[in-house]
Amino acid sequence: MKILIAGAQGQVGSELVSVANQSKHTVFATTRSELDITQAKSVDAYISQNQPDIVINAAAYTAVDKAEEEHNLAYAINHDGVKNLAVVCSRNNIPLFHISTDYVFDGSKIDAYCEEDDVSPLGVYGESKWQGEESIREHMEQFIILRVAWVFGAHRNNFVKTMLRLGNEKDELNVVADQYGGPSPAKNIAETLIDIIGQYQKNKKLEWGTYHYCGYPKTTWHGFAKEIFHQAHEAGLLNKEPKVNPITTAQYPTPAKRPENSMLDCSKLNKTFGIEMPNWHNSLNEVLMDLK
Ligand SMILES: NC(=O)c1ccc[n+]([C@@H]2O[C@H](COP(=O)([O-])OP(=O)(O)OC[C@H]3O[C@@H](n4cnc5c(N)ncnc54)[C@H](OP(=O)(O)O)[C@@H]3O)[C@@H](O)[C@H]2O)c1
Repeated sequence: MKILIAGAQGQVGSELVSVANQSKHTVFATTRSELDITQAKSVDAYISQNQPDIVINAAAYTAVDKAEEEHNLAYAINHDGVKNLAVVCSRNNIPLFHISTDYVFDGSKIDAYCEEDDVSPLGVYGESKWQGEESIREHMEQFIILRVAWVFGAHRNNFVKTMLRLGNEKDELNVVADQYGGPSPAKNIAETLIDIIGQYQKNKKLEWGTYHYCGYPKTTWHGFAKEIFHQAHEAGLLNKEPKVNPITTAQYPTPAKRPENSMLDCSKLNKTFGIEMPNWHNSLNEVLMDLK
């Protein structure tokens, strides 16, 4: 299939490009300078000219704290940009695969979030992502919105790479231990989307809609940091395992509030497409080997 990937240089975008290429799809991998999704005319021209079978949107404004100041830019990319893609895809009858976030929820639920749970974003980033989702639902029928959480991988900035940097600089550090989630490997997110596209290619139909995907087992940022240091030390990426002190969210104030519970219930994705949640411990090992 001809797959257009917007945001191809991002953490998930770059994994999508390599998984799609490995799966023998024809890939149009576009960076922001080649296809800026906020420019409606460019989106229209690029898609009309290249006529992809599928569009995947991995482009997003992802600076959660900065978004509290840069409202306009966050909404321009996460809402208007997504709407531009939805309008053009709809007009050309092209399915749109889009990535969204656990930040559409406020994290007050005790159990993992299901797709039909009420949203209540805590900040500009989450709200802008929610509006992007809604513009897809408003303009199209053939779409997959995949909400993911706590993304990590070998490319770009993420928690794993920050911890490795800090672990090389410090003997001891404090990490938040009262926010819960399932770290989600960027490579597995890419494989999930390409798997669903493969099912569409085979069956010529799909159960369109919104799905959740994240890693297991459930952990905290503190638990994640400890495992990163343990595995990185074993892999020879760190000389020692730094001491990790658990702290509360209140002890680490940030401009944007974060959900306390980011766990996503992935059973709908499993029932519909047969896709399992990834064990993030194993994926972390693969990422560390890549970084090594
Ligand atoms: N990271 C997480 O922990 C996390 C958690 C939950 C959900 N998500 C969602 O997962 C998706 C992928 O995130 P990620 O971690 O891969 O993000 P990322 O590494 O920040 O990549 C985002 C990409 O979007 C590109 N981009 C930004 N504005 C653009 C525009 N106007 N037109 C075209 N491209 C543009 C960026 O280009 P430049 O290279 O020029 O900056 C970058 O390559 C996003 O939808 C995000 O909301 C992420």
